[in-house]
Amino acid sequence: MNPTPHIKTEGTSKFQIGEIIDNTVHYDFEKIKTYLNIKGHMLFGKNFRIYKEDEPLIFKLCCYFIQDHYSCAQMGIDTNKGLLLSGPVGCGKTSLMKLLLHLAPHKTNYELIPTRNIVFNFNTSGYEVLDKYNDTKNYCFDDLGIEPMGSHYAKECNVMGEILLSRYDLFMRHPQIIENRSLSEVEVKAINQQPITNNHSKTHITTNLNAQEIEKRYGSRVRSRLRAMFNLISFDQKAIDKRM
Ligand SMILES: Nc1ncnc2c1ncn2[C@@H]1O[C@H](COP(=O)(O)OP(=O)(O)OP(=O)(O)O)[C@@H](O)[C@H]1O
Ligand SMILES: [Mg+2]
Repeated sequence: MNPTPHIKTEGTSKFQIGEIIDNTVHYDFEKIKTYLNIKGHMLFGKNFRIYKEDEPLIFKLCCYFIQDHYSCAQMGIDTNKGLLLSGPVGCGKTSLMKLLLHLAPHKTNYELIPTRNIVFNFNTSGYEVLDKYNDTKNYCFDDLGIEPMGSHYAKECNVMGEILLSRYDLFMRHPQIIENRSLSEVEVKAINQQPITNNHSKTHITTNLNAQEIEKRYGSRVRSRLRAMFNLISFDQKAIDKRM
């Protein structure tokens, strides 16, 4: 375990993004922003910056990534669910989901996979690809909706629709979700201290689609499960395209 999760090391530089008080990290959003600006530069180039108008959304996401249960609850975010980050083309969804992985990897971690790659793998390897995602790891399915329909030996399959339905079943099997209502504080703490792989089978999504479009593409069974499984977080429809 990293004894100093509040200090981020990049090369020879160190960035303090919070303080440890009574064994708990107290994060500081202003310092987090400074760190994200620098890390964003390193990952995406010198034009990267935290846009003022994106700050409220980034604040929400940061509270989620550090699993600040109290602040999340105040903003209507359930830290047990995944994130469905939607917004117009090029507003920065994928970049944020890549960048924020570096914030508190001991709290929030996942494998980010473009949905197109999943479908291409399905087309070559078939149904075993669906099984791969039926596990307790956390995933972020990037760019949901732009992937083509799956086709393996001329058999068509709505690959991401199938995967989302099985991810929902997995998610609902998690003990914390099932017993959630009756857990004591001590039990919640014990669950939260479990290694991340035992504790979650969370799914996150980035997409340009809205709920109606998701229903059209993946069916009503997927749509009706969205709210149970995800916190719906959206960029403004007018958010600018950051592609140069
Ligand atoms: N905050 C930012 N500052 C500067 N450039 C950015 C920022 N966020 C993203 N970009 C750049 O804008 C482009 C689009 O970003 P990104 O792919 O994250 O958007 P997206 O919302 O996922 O787009 P799409 O809807 O097409 O998937 C990328 O080249 C990325 O490097
Ligand atoms: Mg994207």
